[in-house]
Amino acid sequence: MIMSTSIIKKNLLLEGKTKKIYATNNPFYVIVHYKDNITASNGLKNNFLQDKGIFNNEITTFIFNFLNSCGIRTHFVQKKNNREQLCHKVNMIPLEFVVRNIVAGSMSKRLGIKEGKYISNAIFEIFYKNDKLKDPLINDHHAVFLNIISYEELNIIYHIISNINKILKKFFLDKNIILVDFKMEFGKNDQNKILLSDEISPDTCRFWDKKTKKKLDKDPFRIGLKENILDIYMEILKRLNVIKN
Ligand code: TMP
Repeated sequence: MIMSTSIIKKNLLLEGKTKKIYATNNPFYVIVHYKDNITASNGLKNNFLQDKGIFNNEITTFIFNFLNSCGIRTHFVQKKNNREQLCHKVNMIPLEFVVRNIVAGSMSKRLGIKEGKYISNAIFEIFYKNDKLKDPLINDHHAVFLNIISYEELNIIYHIISNINKILKKFFLDKNIILVDFKMEFGKNDQNKILLSDEISPDTCRFWDKKTKKKLDKDPFRIGLKENILDIYMEILKRLNVIKN
């Protein structure tokens, strides 16, 4: 097990909308830094929200630790401080995999189905990460044609996301949270192994309270409601028992 203290943060490798990735003195590891930005509509809405990075780091750390303990291979190694994680260095696959258990968001709009309809067999979607094209919805054949991934790798990822969905659906339901839908990204390590990467947080999931169906995620910001987003993220941390009531 690598000691986080032996890893030294080096130069900035890349900066995204909500995270920065730093090189380290070890070529197999990077440091992921969570910024205080909250974004929607592919970055068209981008606000500063003091301390939001701390909340997302806490929540993602908790979920990735849990998934690691369930045998899911992830890039996450350990939390380094309140805004940073030590992670395995991976080459990110430029695809977003969305799993839907209940109709909401873009699926509701695209297909004209009322938000809230239960999906008995979880639906998997792929979005091509490309800012210029605004991350279009694509299918397996497009992804292979674009030389992003092979059919074999897609099968591996579908197997992993199906497992993660089963694990997280149950995990959150035990906390009175419905996992409506969520987005995952994957990368390949130096041995070409596929690892769950990026984050899993209320930024990248739709969470509804089991009883009231209140939205416990970023949707109020996406829709433009005046709700205090950090209160919502705090509620998730309380339900995960990271923060005591
Ligand atoms: P969608 O309904 O807008 O397609 O979103 C589906 C899920 O994916 C939802 O939980 C939010 C998440 N998501 C992201 O994390 N990043 C994105 O850029 C998009 C479009 C969705």
